[in-house]
Amino acid sequence: MVGQVGTSPRRRGRLVPLSRRAFRKLVYRRVEMDRYEVRAGDSRSLATPCPYELRFLSPGELDLAGVISPYLTAQDLAELTRQMSVCVVVVDGARVVASSWMTKGQVVVHELERVIDVPPDEHFSCRSYVDPGYRGRSLMTYMVDAYARRVPPEDTLWGLVYHWNVASIRSLEAAGWRRSGRCWTRFLFTRRTEGHELMPVTADPPGQGTQRRAH
Ligand SMILES: CC(C)(COP(=O)(O)OP(=O)(O)OC[C@H]1O[C@@H](n2cnc3c(N)ncnc32)[C@H](O)[C@@H]1OP(=O)(O)O)[C@@H](O)C(=O)NCCC(=O)NCCS
Repeated sequence: MVGQVGTSPRRRGRLVPLSRRAFRKLVYRRVEMDRYEVRAGDSRSLATPCPYELRFLSPGELDLAGVISPYLTAQDLAELTRQMSVCVVVVDGARVVASSWMTKGQVVVHELERVIDVPPDEHFSCRSYVDPGYRGRSLMTYMVDAYARRVPPEDTLWGLVYHWNVASIRSLEAAGWRRSGRCWTRFLFTRRTEGHELMPVTADPPGQGTQRRAH
C-alpha cells in the first residue's frame, strides 16, 4: 500500500501541496503588508461629493459599525472603543452601508499578529468595509478623506494593506495616499521575527493627482 501511494500521480498531486501547506502553517510563514500614508493636509477629495450621508459615530454608537462589517468581532469593537478610536460611516437612509476606523496608541494588527505603536500625531486606518451592494462607488475614499479633514493638517494618516488588495490600494491612492514602506512578521516554528522598512514617499508630478472621477 505504501508503494502505491508513492507511484500514484493523483495521490502525489494532492500530497505535494498538502505538505507545502503544512510546512507553511507549522514550520515557516511570513506575513507582509504594505504601508500607505498621507499627510492629512494633502488628502485629496473626489470631484463629486459623496452621494450618501457621512457620519462620525459617537462612542455610544460604535457598535453600529459592527452591524456592517462581518470582519469585526465583539473583541475588536471593545479594543477599538478602549483606544478612543473614531469610526466614519456611510449611511443610506437608516442603514449603515460602509465603515472605516482610525485609531492610535497600542494597536493590535491581527494579520501580523503583533502590536504596533501609533504616536499621538498619527492616525492608523483599519477595518474599512463597504457592503458588497455598495462597492464600486468609492465609499472608502470618501470615508478616509472625510476623516483627514477633521484632524490637524500636519498629522499623518497611515495603514497597512496586503499587496493583493487592489480595491483598497486604489481607494487610498485616490485620496492621495502613497506607499511608504512595508511591515512583516516571520514565523519559524515558535519563533517570531518582526520587521519593517520605511521608504521615501514619491510626490505626484506637478499638474497630476488633483481630483479623480467619482463613480
Ligand atoms: C476595500 C473596500 C473597502 C473598497 O470598497 P469601495 O470603496 O467600494 O471601492 P471601489 O469598489 O469603489 O474600488 C476602488 C477602486 O478599486 C478598483 N477595484 C475594485 N476591485 C478591484 C479588483 N478586484 N481589481 C482591480 N481593481 C479593483 C475599482 O475599479 C476602483 O478603481 P478606480 O476608481 O480607479 O476605477 C471593499 O472592497 C471591501 O469592503 N473589501 C473587503 C474588506 C477589505 O478588504 N477592507 C480593506 C482592508 S485594508
